[in-house]
Order: sequence, then C-alpha cells, then structure tokens
Amino acid sequence: MKAPNIPSWLRNAVFYQVYPQSFADSNGDGIGDLPGLIGKLDYIRSLGATAIWLNPMFESPFRDAGYDISDFRKVAPRYGTNADAVRLFKEAHRRGMKVVLDLVAGHTSDRHPWFREAIRNRESPYRGHYIFTGRESQKPPFGETVPATPRGEHYVANFLPFQPALNFGYLNPDPKKPWQVPPEHPDCLAVRCELRDIMKYWLDLGCDGFRVDMASSLIKEDAGAVALQRLWQGFRAWFDRDYPEAALISEWSHPIQAIGAGFHIDFLIHFGEKAYLYLFGPGNELNGEGRIPHVFFEKAGEGDVRLFLDPYLKHYEATRGTGYIALPTGNHDFQRPRRGRDFADLKVAYTFLLTMPGVPFLYYGDEIGMRNLDGLREKEGSMWRTGNRTPMQWDNRLPNLGFSTAPAHELYLPVDPAPDAPTVAAQESDRDSLLNFSRSLIALRKKTPALGNDGDFHPLYADPASSLFVFCRSHAGKMFAVAVNSGKVPREANIPQLSGARCVFGGGASLRGTRLAVAGVSASVWRLA
Ligand code: NOJ
Ligand code: CA
Repeated sequence: MKAPNIPSWLRNAVFYQVYPQSFADSNGDGIGDLPGLIGKLDYIRSLGATAIWLNPMFESPFRDAGYDISDFRKVAPRYGTNADAVRLFKEAHRRGMKVVLDLVAGHTSDRHPWFREAIRNRESPYRGHYIFTGRESQKPPFGETVPATPRGEHYVANFLPFQPALNFGYLNPDPKKPWQVPPEHPDCLAVRCELRDIMKYWLDLGCDGFRVDMASSLIKEDAGAVALQRLWQGFRAWFDRDYPEAALISEWSHPIQAIGAGFHIDFLIHFGEKAYLYLFGPGNELNGEGRIPHVFFEKAGEGDVRLFLDPYLKHYEATRGTGYIALPTGNHDFQRPRRGRDFADLKVAYTFLLTMPGVPFLYYGDEIGMRNLDGLREKEGSMWRTGNRTPMQWDNRLPNLGFSTAPAHELYLPVDPAPDAPTVAAQESDRDSLLNFSRSLIALRKKTPALGNDGDFHPLYADPASSLFVFCRSHAGKMFAVAVNSGKVPREANIPQLSGARCVFGGGASLRGTRLAVAGVSASVWRLA
C-alpha cells in the first residue's frame, strides 16, 4: 500500500484549542473575538503549540454556541469579519503556526437559508438537502422536542431539534420510508458538493484544515461505517490532490474507523470507543479524592489503567503509520481535568498526555489548571457544558481577570470568582507552575523524537491493581520510559528494561537495579540505557 500522504506539519504538531467566545475580548463587549485571539498568538506560541483548533466562529443564532450555523461562509459579527479571519491565518503562519477551523458537516441551523427555503417551498432545490419525514416524527439524539416545521412537517435532526440533519443518505434505505435515499442519490451528492465548496472557500482563504464535528453522523443507519468511510475517503483523495498540507481531524472517537475513512487524526474522547472515560471520567460523580466509578487519574488510586490501555492499544496498533490518535486535556463538551484534581494531580496527568504518541491537544486554560465552574446558568445551549466554557483568565485585573473590560455582568460567562483563580500572569513568574511545567513537557516532547507524535509506544507495566503505569517510547534506537503514579500511595515495580536508566524529567522516583520506586502522585521520564 502506498504510504499515506500526511501533512508534514502534523508529525510534530501540538494543538491548542480556542473557544472563541471565551478567549480574549478586544472590544469590551464581554465576548471573545478574533482580534483578541490574534493579540494572544504569541502567548499560544510560547507554550510550544504549533497549531490552533478554533471552535465554530460562523454566523449563527447561537442556540448551540455556534454549532448551529446559518452562514458557513461568514464570520459571526460578534467575532469580527472574514478579513479578521484572513488576518488570523496570516499572523499565525508568520509565527510558524497553523489554524484549523470547525466544520459542522452534519447539520445546519434551522435558520439557515437552505432550510428556510426548503420548508417554505416544497419545490425548492434545497428540499433534498434535508430529510423530511412527513407526519412520521423522529426523535432527535438530544433534547425533548420532536423536530417539526411550523407547518407540522417532521424532519430528522442531527443533535438538537433546531439542527436539521443534512441529507447524506441511508446505507440501506427502507422502501416503506420514501425519505430514505441511498448515499449516491443526486440529492445527497448535491450536499457533498456544498460541503466541499465550504471547505474550499476557507482553505483558499488560508486555513489549514478542519476538525469535523460529529464526523461519524453523516450517513444514517450505517453502524459499520461502510458508506461513511467511502464518503470521507472521497474527501481525503481530494485533499491529497489539491490540499495535501491541510489536516482532516475527526470527532468520531473510533480511530480505526475514522483513520480508515481517511482522517489524519481522530479524537479518542468521552463517547464512541470507551477508553478516555477510564482515564478522566468526565461526568462521573466526585467522591473525595476519587470518582464513582473510579478512573485512573485520581488520588484514590482505585482506577484500572488496563480499561483504557486495552482498547487504546487495539486502535493504536491498527492505525499507527496511517494516522494519529488525539487524547486531549479536555474540550468544550466535557468537564475540565481540574475538576476534582489539584495541580499535582494535573502534572501527573499531563506528563502522561504529553508523552503519549499521536497529536496532543491542550484545551485553552487547562495549561493553567482553570477550574470547571459548577452551578452556572446555561448559556447558548451549553447544557451540562457551561462550567468548562468560562473565560480565559489572563491576569489579576478586576473585574474579569484580563479577559474583557466589560462590566462583569455583561460577560459571556463569569470568570472564576475564587481568590486563588489561576491566571497566566501569576503562573508566568512561578517556576513550578502548571503553565511552566506544561511548557517544559512540550519542549521535551519537541526535542525528543522518541517522545513525539511518531515515536513507538508499548506498555512496560500496567497492573489492574496498581496506580503505577510505565510505558516505553522509542525512535531510531533511542528509548525512553515514562512512569506515572496517579494514586497517593507510593508504588514499586520490577521493570527489567529500566536497568541503567537515567531520569531526565520530573521526579519522585528512584531506581535500584531494575526496581523502580515512585512516590504517590508523581511522574518521571527516563532515558533508557
Ligand atoms: C459536537 C460538538 O463538539 C458539540 O459542542 C455540539 O453541541 C455537537 N457536536 C452538535 O454540533
Ligand atoms: Ca468582543
């Protein structure tokens, strides 16, 4: 098989995810914007990040924070203009960084002109862009309301009722349901063309690829992703030919299927293949120093790393060399890693995340350990996700910790009110801060190919009954071991491969012969002899 054409910059990419409304407000209206982000590019670069993934910044009624798009080709006025987007691409490129946009491929807002036209006029060419089911109601994946037009016509929604699904077809259309057509139907091919044109529009303006929202949702009732893989492989072939340096990143959480479909990177996160959940347990109930049920990264030390490792290895082995798995620190859909963890816990977790193979993603604010702010009122369809979307905390300027000059009550969401709310400014000047720790880990990763995106990975010690996990990373004959003990109890293990190894990062560990002893909540990186 021909070696896959992977954009060269992905080989050492480190991503930083920016939620535009909460990052930096340049004009004092309480909402982050593109000029604000441009003003912070040097900061993002200072972390060692080489690329940015920007959540949707397009025109939208914002009933799902911008994942309900009403114009795919226009920056929402609250974020700026298309000219600002072009300036963002240029300014990032000038600093050696890439910018990846969010492509909401599976649905539009119900206010999108295509949908409005489709429900107004049954003869409209946009009718076929959506899936109208007449009087047969369809339950949306989320939300209680059954999607219906003002005329009482039902349609298929992709996530919430106001997000009508675009029509990419059904794997096996049911002849009794005339709205189910095969993926090759001209209506579905027309939607594919729309999607390609949207991508082309932004790629030609200078963006460097897309994170594809709900990438696995396009073709309906295609559990094995057979037709879906063909669809994305088609886009990938087009990328390979016309945009070989542009990245395709999926929100799929099943790397075998997603990378098989042609994606360069797939997130392994809180749904789909269950693996990430066993590390961080977003959504689980906090229980003192642990969680219910237990996860690996908690002080109680009761988690089982194999619950993560076994499915991870299956996906890693099957996709290595053809695409990357991304294990992010967090994202805008689930709780921040700080929830139920202190800075020491986070240093251990980040040592793991930033030394694993694949492409690392840092969610804005996780580098300073921002809290998940529980108990906030829902904002723009945030549902359970409000507390992980609060504004970035830059410095100690009141009332908004440097995010915005607007009165506090006008902010998109409040900043952390705690007196010890973490800020960039405070952590810049503290050698031991999480911020500087994250920076040195990224620097170590970037100068050490064995610890980088392409280095090999294999576990050295992973016992279901221990909070110690040790794994090996290697490249071109150079070998490293990473030892993380997430639990508070010190641990020991006999690891023959460690004989003669030297600690190059972190601490709390000692080696006698082949016997490794680690303190509770500690992480270390070793150069193997
Ligand atoms: C996944 C996105 O990450 C999430 O924020 C959004 O609500 C849904 N897809 C619907 O687009
Ligand atoms: Ca603003």
